[in-house]
Amino acid sequence: MNQRQAPRQISHIGIAVRSLDEAIPLYRDILGLAWEGTETVESEQVRVAFFRIGETRIELLEPLSPESAIAKHLEKRGEGIHHIALEVSDIERRLSELAEQGVRLIHERPKQGAHNAKVAFLHPKSTGGVLFELCEHGTDSSK
Ligand code: CO
Repeated sequence: MNQRQAPRQISHIGIAVRSLDEAIPLYRDILGLAWEGTETVESEQVRVAFFRIGETRIELLEPLSPESAIAKHLEKRGEGIHHIALEVSDIERRLSELAEQGVRLIHERPKQGAHNAKVAFLHPKSTGGVLFELCEHGTDSSK
């Protein structure tokens, strides 16, 4: 197929928090979302917790080191929404198409993210101040 494919869905919304232990009860016990557990993502120096809502998720991100992008975000803007992740089918191709259209990429090649997904971020200066993540999971998963 030569036609560009639309992203399949919002994979997740990433939210920066100072402490997963403090944030999880709000999402799990008060908002009543289904907690799927936590995972460490070494490449991003974060610990993440996922909550499922329908086919989409909320991803809480806690920094593991001051060098983590999440630590810098918390320092500058405090806790809150950090990124929106779009699920795509062929991330390498999608990144090169976006680059051809003049979108600045933070990652020219995908890295390994949570749930073994391939992920890459677009530069918010190119996307109206919104930090978008592209992610690609195996075909057997909508994560
Ligand atoms: Co994410």
